[in-house]
Amino acid sequence: MKPEPKDLSHYFSELTKARVPSDLKKYYEVFSREGMGNLAGGLPTPNYFPFRTLEATVLTASGLDSSAKSDESRHRQIEVPNRSDEANVLRKVDVSTALQYGTAEGYPSLRHWVRYITRHVVHGHIPYKKGPEVIMTCGNTDGFNKVLQTFTDEWIDGRSPTAERPAILAEAFSYPGALQTALARGMQVVSVDIDECGIVPDALDHVLANWNWNLGRRPHLLYTVAVGQNPTGSVVPTQRKKQIYEICTKYDVIIIEDEPYWFLQYPNAQELNLDSNDDFVMEGDSVRSDSKSGSFPFLQRLAKSYLSIDVEGRVVRLDSFSKTMAPGCRLGWITAQKAIIEKLVLITETSTQQPSGFVQSMVAQLLTGGKKDSDAWNIDGWIQWCENLCNAYQKRMEQMCGILDSGRVNVTTDSHKLSEWSVVRSSAMYDFKWPSGGMFVWVKMNYPTHPLFDEVGEEKLAEALWKYLVEKPYMVAVAPGAMFGSTNSIKKEDGFRYFRLCFAAVEESELRGITRRFCDGVREFWGLKKLPDQESVKLDAFLEPIN
Ligand SMILES: Cc1ncc(COP(=O)(O)O)c(C=O)c1O
Repeated sequence: MKPEPKDLSHYFSELTKARVPSDLKKYYEVFSREGMGNLAGGLPTPNYFPFRTLEATVLTASGLDSSAKSDESRHRQIEVPNRSDEANVLRKVDVSTALQYGTAEGYPSLRHWVRYITRHVVHGHIPYKKGPEVIMTCGNTDGFNKVLQTFTDEWIDGRSPTAERPAILAEAFSYPGALQTALARGMQVVSVDIDECGIVPDALDHVLANWNWNLGRRPHLLYTVAVGQNPTGSVVPTQRKKQIYEICTKYDVIIIEDEPYWFLQYPNAQELNLDSNDDFVMEGDSVRSDSKSGSFPFLQRLAKSYLSIDVEGRVVRLDSFSKTMAPGCRLGWITAQKAIIEKLVLITETSTQQPSGFVQSMVAQLLTGGKKDSDAWNIDGWIQWCENLCNAYQKRMEQMCGILDSGRVNVTTDSHKLSEWSVVRSSAMYDFKWPSGGMFVWVKMNYPTHPLFDEVGEEKLAEALWKYLVEKPYMVAVAPGAMFGSTNSIKKEDGFRYFRLCFAAVEESELRGITRRFCDGVREFWGLKKLPDQESVKLDAFLEPIN
């Protein structure tokens, strides 16, 4: 017997508690009775929508596998019709319904599909009674914001009591977009130490066990990116997830699992790391053996979600189409126990209402084809797409890391005029782990090996190097590590040692060349006997919004 999900309503914010379902909902059943002349609803007629159909040229599910077929056969037209005669709303995809006001859970056919793959295909059995529900979102940024609204009251410095200040745990280096959302609500972000496998369980326990209540409430939320962590690229192995989950249970913490990079997992990074770093050991991971994921070898390769060990219903998972389709879709979904989804529905009803009907219907048409469309990707096609996408990004990751690997050691020769001997020294200018997932390589610069280290110090070297790299002839922009520090002290004391390099953004044909330019720039920089004059380069210019 599966356990009931735990009641987490003691964490609902005051606003969440005050939200009540819309009155209209009570009448929906009456409105939808066969033959009802409905003069009650305030809906515009679809006959006056200027958009009659929606069409797009898309890639086929195998379309990213460029070796296979001609360019033409990789493309296909899809069309969302004006009206579909499909009676089952869970299979209906048409302009008249998609562009109409709809339910906050999302466009029924798309939500139904997403719910199915979440509960039965990708994550297998979710261990609490009846399993989770889903709600469509406008991407994980929107999803996270709504989850914070559900579980935290806004806190205003100088006005709200310190004892009530809400706090959220986050990886020491984390995704700044999420941290900013929490900070803007007045929350305290509490950093947890990480290593190559993500959050260190003992460190998490330590923070919670030794909480200083003078700073506010002990954190009741953990924000984590467990796959392809941004910026470090780590994947948390299942065994470690279980330890983290146990600690969260002990201290009654809700886990917010933000997984836009979920399908981009590179398990072979473990071996590649072993080849290049003798000291790197990854904890073992168990092979998935849950329901339908068994029919997809690709899914079996993937690490488990926190959802699959969530006996208490304390995991709120955020998924997004931003990285698997396109960020501009602004489309994703939240998976959580029913009582939490019900609150998220109420928040959605008074904010976004639901993601845009254009996007939902196009994506629904591509994935499900509405009514028996053999051209639709369907579940097999979606998994195939994600696998090809993963392979394509893995190739890029290997290209970048291979070049970074061969460029990391600086070899210098000191020859003595009066002797025929010369001394050859080699030192690593930087270190990095081949990422196990995602889109980023997290490079730690080894400034103590720089000849000017004693004279100018690490921070100055870091700033000078960043400026040196953006100048000709290197012209490489990398993200300064400080941007990702989850607290000001981490930004200041440790952040400057790191750069985040993204292998996803540039053209594949340019990736090697740009990575080589990075390595060349670093090597030349290590050869400098004095820092160049860099007044003209402003570091601030780089700090525009970055994902
Ligand atoms: C960890 C993480 N979460 C969320 C997002 C934003 O996702 P979305 O486009 O779905 O809002 C990003 C984007 O880079 C990210 O790296």
